[in-house]
Amino acid sequence: MTLRLGVNVDHVATIRNARGGRHPDPVAAAKLAIAAGCDGITAHLREDRRHIRDDDIARLKAEIGKPLNFEMAATDEMAGIALKTKPHAVCLVPEKRTERTTEGGLDAVKQRAQLAPVVQALKAAGIRVSLFIGAQPEQIEAAAALGTPVIEIHTGSWCDALTQGYAAEANAEWQLIRAGARLAKSLGLEVHAGHGLDYASAETIASLPQIVELNIGHFLIGEAVFDGLGEAVKLMRAAMDRGRLKVATS
Ligand code: PXP
Repeated sequence: MTLRLGVNVDHVATIRNARGGRHPDPVAAAKLAIAAGCDGITAHLREDRRHIRDDDIARLKAEIGKPLNFEMAATDEMAGIALKTKPHAVCLVPEKRTERTTEGGLDAVKQRAQLAPVVQALKAAGIRVSLFIGAQPEQIEAAAALGTPVIEIHTGSWCDALTQGYAAEANAEWQLIRAGARLAKSLGLEVHAGHGLDYASAETIASLPQIVELNIGHFLIGEAVFDGLGEAVKLMRAAMDRGRLKVATS
C-alpha cells in the first residue's frame, strides 16, 4: 500500500518571480525534493503565469527523473501545451484569475461539456488524467462518468478547519473525505488528495488506505525556509509513513 508524495514547486517560482530573475529555480528545487525521497513533481501553469512559466514546464519534463504532474485549467491553450509536453500526468483544476490559490474543486457535474473533450484528448495521448474535485458523492460519480481514471480530493476546507481549531467542521469535512475516498475506489477510480496539507494532516489522511498519492506544496516550501527543502520532504515522508502504519495496524 504505497502512498506517493508529489511535491508542488509552484511557490519556489513565486519567490523567484518576486524579483524577476532566475533564483530560486523551481527545477533545482524539484531535483532536491526528488533526492530527498519524493515520488513526483507537481507544477501548475496558470493562465496568468503568476508562478510557473512555460519554460519551467519544459525544463521539468526534460530534467527531472520522476513523473511530472502538470496542473492546468481545462482550456484549449493548456490542452495544447499538455499534448506538446506529454507529462506523465495532468490534473485538471478550476482557475479564477482573482483567487489566491485553487479555491474549491472543479464542478464535474456542471462543467461536464467543457471537461469531457479535454479528458478524452489527454487520455488518447497516453497522459494519466485526474480531476481535482470536492469529495461530494455527486462530484465523484460525475468524474467516474467522465471516464477519468483518477481523482484528487480537495482537502483545503478540512485543513483550514483543522488549523483554525473548528473541530466540528473539521470532523464533518473528514467524514466527507473518508466516505468519498471509499466511494471513488469502489467506482474504480485511483484516489489522490491535496491542498493545505501539513505534517499533521498528511499523517492523518495517510491512514485512508484508498488514497495512493498526496500532492503538497505551500507548507513544504514554507518549512524549507526553516529546515531546508530536503529535510522538509523527509519529515513529510516520515509523517506519511507513520499515518500509513495506522492502516496496517488498525
Ligand atoms: N493539488 C492541487 C490540485 C492544487 O491545485 C494544489 C495547489 O496548487 C495542491 C495540490 C497543493 O496545495 P498546497 O500548496 O496547499 O499544498
